[in-house]
Amino acid sequence: MSKTITPYHDEQATKKEQVADMFNNISKTYDFLNHFMSLGIDIIWRKKAINELKNDKPKLILDVATGTGDFAFEALSILKPEKIIGVDISRGMLDIAEQKIAKRGLGDKFGVKLGDSEKLPFEGAEFDAVTVAYGVRNFENLEKGLADINRVLKPGGKVVVLEFSKPKAFPIKQLYNFYFSYITPGIGKLFSKDARAYSYLPESVAAFPDGQTFVALMDKVGFKNTKCRPLTFGICSIYTGIK
Ligand SMILES: C[S@@+](CC[C@H](N)C(=O)[O-])C[C@H]1O[C@@H](n2cnc3c(N)ncnc32)[C@H](O)[C@@H]1O
Repeated sequence: MSKTITPYHDEQATKKEQVADMFNNISKTYDFLNHFMSLGIDIIWRKKAINELKNDKPKLILDVATGTGDFAFEALSILKPEKIIGVDISRGMLDIAEQKIAKRGLGDKFGVKLGDSEKLPFEGAEFDAVTVAYGVRNFENLEKGLADINRVLKPGGKVVVLEFSKPKAFPIKQLYNFYFSYITPGIGKLFSKDARAYSYLPESVAAFPDGQTFVALMDKVGFKNTKCRPLTFGICSIYTGIK
């Protein structure tokens, strides 16, 4: 079995506990650093991923690992569903999401709650769509998380996952590795209170089973019509599947 990558390499705490701690530590600078480090491209990637649901017109959406809510806000603006519920294991990230929801007056459309992707606090077959952006890489048990997403989807419902992947072509692969291994942790150290978080980022991306390996896992837990769509030379990928 491959080694589990954790934020603090702490053998006394589970990956889930460490991930929740880490996001609690970085919640206040998370949005700024996201846009800064990706040069704003993360906004385009999020829009592309949400557009995968445009023809499905989902009424009730669950955004897993919602964090500060940016993927859900994008879904609200593009898809205009009746309601989105966001779940996350980090109270600190949800506090920021709640502040943004209140500021934008979206309290009747978007609600958040503490919840674990591996044990989602919902009955089965409730949601028309489930979305996850930059969350699956952080799951402690990826297969369990995907299986639980499948459980809460209605039959025929769709999952859309957006996650970093590893570009394979020269010279993008080399440039990307340099940026991710040296520049990202450097910027993280400067602006975030938690330097480890931005070393964990490239480590967790390197360890993530991307591309067809991830698609095979989606198939294994029961998704049909699974697809992988690489974006921007494969720096990110959108995965979709139907229950
Ligand atoms: C990189 S952030 C992404 C936030 C947001 N989706 C976005 O696009 O900006 C990853 C989030 O996943 C959450 N997370 C990690 N493991 C989780 C789990 N098992 N269940 C729910 N949320 C989880 C973290 O707390 C964190 O807020």
